[in-house]
Amino acid sequence: MAERDWASELPRRLLVTGGAGFIGSAFVRLLLGLPDPPGITVLDALTYAGNLANLEAVADHPGYRFVHGNICDPVVVEGLAGEVDCIVNFAAESHVDRSILDPGAFIQTDVYGTFVLLEAARRHHHRRFLQVSTDEIYGDVAAPHRSREDDPPRPRSPYAASKAGGEMQCWAYHETHRLPIVVTRGSNTYGPYQFPEKIVPLFITNALDERPLPIYGGGTAVRDYLHVDDHARGIATVLALGELGRAYNIGQGDDPIDGLSVARAILQLTGRDPSLIRHVQDRPGHDLRYALDTARMRELGWAPTRAFAPGLAATVAWYRERRDWWEPIKSGAFWDFYQRNYRPLAGAGSQL
Ligand code: NAD
Ligand code: TYD
Repeated sequence: MAERDWASELPRRLLVTGGAGFIGSAFVRLLLGLPDPPGITVLDALTYAGNLANLEAVADHPGYRFVHGNICDPVVVEGLAGEVDCIVNFAAESHVDRSILDPGAFIQTDVYGTFVLLEAARRHHHRRFLQVSTDEIYGDVAAPHRSREDDPPRPRSPYAASKAGGEMQCWAYHETHRLPIVVTRGSNTYGPYQFPEKIVPLFITNALDERPLPIYGGGTAVRDYLHVDDHARGIATVLALGELGRAYNIGQGDDPIDGLSVARAILQLTGRDPSLIRHVQDRPGHDLRYALDTARMRELGWAPTRAFAPGLAATVAWYRERRDWWEPIKSGAFWDFYQRNYRPLAGAGSQL
């Protein structure tokens, strides 16, 4: 199906929470690059994952404003909600390994923070509320099934459970208060400006520095990898054209790819030796397969434009060029997390 004109159907005044993160910033850059862009206020707490450098390209755009604040703060949220007709909620703690180490922050932001936003949207009679959710709420999916939007949520990690909790409140506000909700469930996303803790940017930056690539277990767990530009355009499409009260799977929709293949592809693209691969103990509760049926998105006229192989090559090229972006954040607190997460998995004496 041909792509439909989503740009002319967008709400005109948006509050984008978590807009200084990886996917949120791609969404903001996409919308502010349109010929007739909406006004965008970004609300972001600038946690370890938030970075104003991600928004440098739009910093002087007349339609853009940045507010440093927390979605759990009802006073800040209330003030901003009165100035817009729509909230797009990207703000979240987003990394599974951190949710195993420190689940409290996930409940706070992903569950309580979503509630604070919903309450404000209800009071101000917003035109739309888009909750950015994840395919991880479906849990581990046995082959050959691909998750469909009406499948029941079966979250298995603290991250997935907190995201499912946020989503459940959205559905409750839709039913109880007729709040105009749409939900996107995106798959594993990769591309420029991704904090180097998820597999793709961690492995690329480790490979560039000739450090080992820690593979959980046998590296056989599979994911549906989607380029961030396709994910951002998918969210914009649902915001403009999605049916209220519906969830939309946004994914590549191909056969999912295993971790070992991702590692090998990155080593080849960076010209590094396969001996950098280190098998470490598996992640507790590791979901071994996510796979998505994306027919509903395709009915909206959306389709991914970037296959994984060229998308990954372009991403490697970006990280090669942009050491100025990732070297400062891959220091200090990052290595504290790295040691805490990987040392127990690597075993005594193993160099990571
Ligand atoms: P990210 O970790 O890069 O960015 C999260 C952003 O939210 C950061 O800018 C951070 O500062 C901000 N934030 C965190 N807590 C906040 C709070 N309490 N108040 C205000 N701001 C806060 O995340 P991402 O990868 O860009 O993911 C964005 C959204 O997409 C999340 O909701 C995530 O669950 C979802 N998602 C991510 C993926 C993926 O592969 N990365 C896939 C599907 C869905
Ligand atoms: P990740 O990027 O953390 O995303 P998620 O767990 O939210 O899907 O992990 C993607 C896959 O890569 C998953 O199967 C776990 C695996 N993985 C590793 O093998 N080693 C690592 O260091 C990381 C971060 C992930």
